[in-house]
Amino acid sequence: MNQGIREQIIQAKTMLGESGEFHMDNAPDMPHKLFENWFQLAMEKHVPNPHAMTVSTVDAMGYPDSRILILKDLDEAGWYFASSSESQKGKQLQAHPYAALNFY
Ligand SMILES: Cc1cc2nc3c(=O)[nH]c(=O)nc-3n(C[C@H](O)[C@H](O)[C@H](O)COP(=O)(O)O)c2cc1C
Repeated sequence: MNQGIREQIIQAKTMLGESGEFHMDNAPDMPHKLFENWFQLAMEKHVPNPHAMTVSTVDAMGYPDSRILILKDLDEAGWYFASSSESQKGKQLQAHPYAALNFY
């Protein structure tokens, strides 16, 4: 008999490898520098798809909306992705120019 979804979820492996320590006092002044450090560490540790990010926006009803995008670049001005301004996220960002990013 096939396992139920709950058993499959429980068996899924999480947080493989060790996670680094984080001390606010040692963090660089600019957030993109901290991200650069973490990204380089993720590359060294062969974390799969370290440039894949969840981009969350808000729709016209005020509900959150999320999708996976690929990070294209990064500098002190921000994080860059490529997409269509006609997409749902494009329209949502025109109406509410705020987003949250999340990287594994
Ligand atoms: C691994 C992965 C990477 C993706 N990268 C992009 C991307 O760089 N740009 C993009 O527009 N969509 C990308 N997509 C598709 C988006 O997740 C999304 O389905 C699409 O942009 C439409 O989103 P929206 O309707 O919320 O605007 C990617 C999907 C996956 C699974």
